[in-house]
Amino acid sequence: MNYKEALQHPVFKTITQSAEELQLKAFVIGGFVRDFILNRGNAKDIDIVAIGSGIELAKRVAQNLPNKPKVQIFKTYGTAMLRYNEIEIEFVGARKESYTENSRNPEVENGTLQDDQNRRDFTINALALSVNKANFGDLLDPFNGIKDLENKTIKTPLNPDITYSDDPLRMLRAIRFATQLGFYIENESLEAITRNASRIKIITKERIVVELNKILESPKPSIGFLLLEKTGLLNIILPELTALKGVEELEGQRHKDNFYHTLEVVDNISKHTDNLWLRWAALLHDIGKAPTKRFSKKVGWTFHGHEFEGSKMVFHLFKRLKMPLNDKMKFVQKMVFMSSRPIVLAQDIVTDSAVRRLVFDAGDYVDDLMTLCEADITTKNPKKFKKYHNNFKIVREKIIEVEERDHVRNFQPPITGEEIMKTFNLKPSREIGVIKEFIKEAILEGEIPNEYKAAYNLMLKKGKKLGLKTNVND
Ligand code: CTP
Repeated sequence: MNYKEALQHPVFKTITQSAEELQLKAFVIGGFVRDFILNRGNAKDIDIVAIGSGIELAKRVAQNLPNKPKVQIFKTYGTAMLRYNEIEIEFVGARKESYTENSRNPEVENGTLQDDQNRRDFTINALALSVNKANFGDLLDPFNGIKDLENKTIKTPLNPDITYSDDPLRMLRAIRFATQLGFYIENESLEAITRNASRIKIITKERIVVELNKILESPKPSIGFLLLEKTGLLNIILPELTALKGVEELEGQRHKDNFYHTLEVVDNISKHTDNLWLRWAALLHDIGKAPTKRFSKKVGWTFHGHEFEGSKMVFHLFKRLKMPLNDKMKFVQKMVFMSSRPIVLAQDIVTDSAVRRLVFDAGDYVDDLMTLCEADITTKNPKKFKKYHNNFKIVREKIIEVEERDHVRNFQPPITGEEIMKTFNLKPSREIGVIKEFIKEAILEGEIPNEYKAAYNLMLKKGKKLGLKTNVND
């Protein structure tokens, strides 16, 4: 087979020329070839393997390119990288590798193309295209990766126990590719992942999170989380989620399986948003349910305060996984903390004041919160399903209405503390806070509009009640 059309980018001409000058064989390998055959759009990464020195080839390519880009060399790995326009090109010499037991860092020996293909993760990632003049575009596919692409199969070139144990990150990569591409992981591979699951502990948290994020960014993330659970990886990486598994029954009362519910919520939300952090919020929205679960004869199963507990757990989880402890984390915390608010609202008659409070508390995140809560409706009772969705529609309409009228998103009190001090001739004191809070409450309750004049009059009234003197005539 020949895939010349995959190599149309002008940079390949330069690579061919450079390989000829150095008289070495070179191939494009891995994701670039896979994604071309799968028609996944233009790849931004090109991996080149040279039979010889990848670093020398990279340097020569850089010299021959019109803009002479800088070459970044990673001596310990024998690799080099350069950027050409928007494309990142990585060069490596073909190698035979053996990994040491406790680290991903391999001991490297020079090898043939076949040696290099042997040590790659999956047959679909071991496809190589020659960039040499004589056989430009020829496919070298010793493991029939093309067939696995057609059959949508993830399979390792070697015995899977060796491939996964050599580099345990590949266990996550297998599951990530299965999720992204909608592929099946071959049984033998799945069993090997299960056997080797505990080796994931030698992988850095940052690399684990990269894969988790890619799973979450897939069209149907549940595929990945079910596989992670099945193989035992989830229990190591995110035990907060596996703790949600199971249904308990006491005295004829059952609660739902919050793990499968969570996955349904994540799939639901993924149809409506590409925001990775909102997807994280969906994944974690119920994690507080495991530690707060209680049973009483009177009310059955309860999870009181799970939203608060869950938002605290978000911090510990992010910290453990070395995820950013910044505004993204705070956003996820806020979503988890507020995750039950709209549904409580939607079960009842939707009042203006409840909506106003929701907008006030959620601020700019109120739309994201609504998206999360709509995704949270997984009831199989069609009547309830319809009712909740209808009520949420009303909530969304009311949010717009209340917003236009009352502007309570990012609420700024219409009366400042300074004005209160001036009016009542006060030094900084408790009364100022009392009056401000009273005005805010009146606005949120809809007793007065969010306007200066109404707030001013209410201030005078409240001040009088507090026994404060003013020289303003009312
Ligand atoms: N590879 C591997 N084992 C790993 C990582 C990568 O064998 N743990 C090999 C695969 O052949 C892979 C290539 O290195 O195709 C390039 O890796 P990378 O750029 O990380 O992944 P891609 O396959 O290109 O896919 P993606 O860009 O989606 O991560």
